[in-house]
Amino acid sequence: MTNLGNIIIAIDGPAASGKGTIAKKLSEYFGLPYLDSGLLYRIVASEVIKHNIDPTKKRLVIDHVKKINFDRIDNGSLRNDNVSHVASIIAQYKEVRDVLLRYQRSFALNGVVMDGRDIGTVIFPNADYKFYITATLEERTNRRFMELLEQNSELNRNIVKNDINNRDQRDIMRKIAPLAKADDAIEVDTTFMKIDDVIDFIVKYIHKDKKS
Ligand code: DC
Repeated sequence: MTNLGNIIIAIDGPAASGKGTIAKKLSEYFGLPYLDSGLLYRIVASEVIKHNIDPTKKRLVIDHVKKINFDRIDNGSLRNDNVSHVASIIAQYKEVRDVLLRYQRSFALNGVVMDGRDIGTVIFPNADYKFYITATLEERTNRRFMELLEQNSELNRNIVKNDINNRDQRDIMRKIAPLAKADDAIEVDTTFMKIDDVIDFIVKYIHKDKKS
């Protein structure tokens, strides 16, 4: 573990790019707290589903989001397809994003590694380091397919590919805080890289920057 103080490292990228795994490993390496911001949107989505709220009814979602406790710990049920789908719908609402923005900023008081879609652009435009993690749609589909196959052996690869693609399009096209690479972010295309090579690249980049 290397301690660089209370720095902020922003990791953004499309669905199934590996950004969560990368952010978690970096947080362990640098001894920083870790927050998966997608989980916050998933918590809102699962609450909306639990209360039978139509996610396209913006007013109902906004009224409900104020009642949610975001300190709830992750559990496996937040990672299913329906929650992913509803999360990308409610993520379009400014009022939802504002509530989550406040939570994300207050979480980072002792430094953080945070991954998401708008971390380097909106949540922490002055982050110490910003990385934008990508991989081709085919490769991201392969990764998600292999992950989900363990739970469902009858899974259809094309459905997984469509789900990822539809979600990316909605995240890229939304008006508020869309998925985007910050101008000053370093883009890392991981299509042909192993996770450990990505970590190695980022750690070396940060150490080199610290020395200069
Ligand atoms: O990272 P994830 O797949 O768990 O995110 C689920 C959805 O949440 C994603 O499709 C869009 C939304 N999201 C967002 O809009 N902004 C973020 N910073 C993180 C996630």
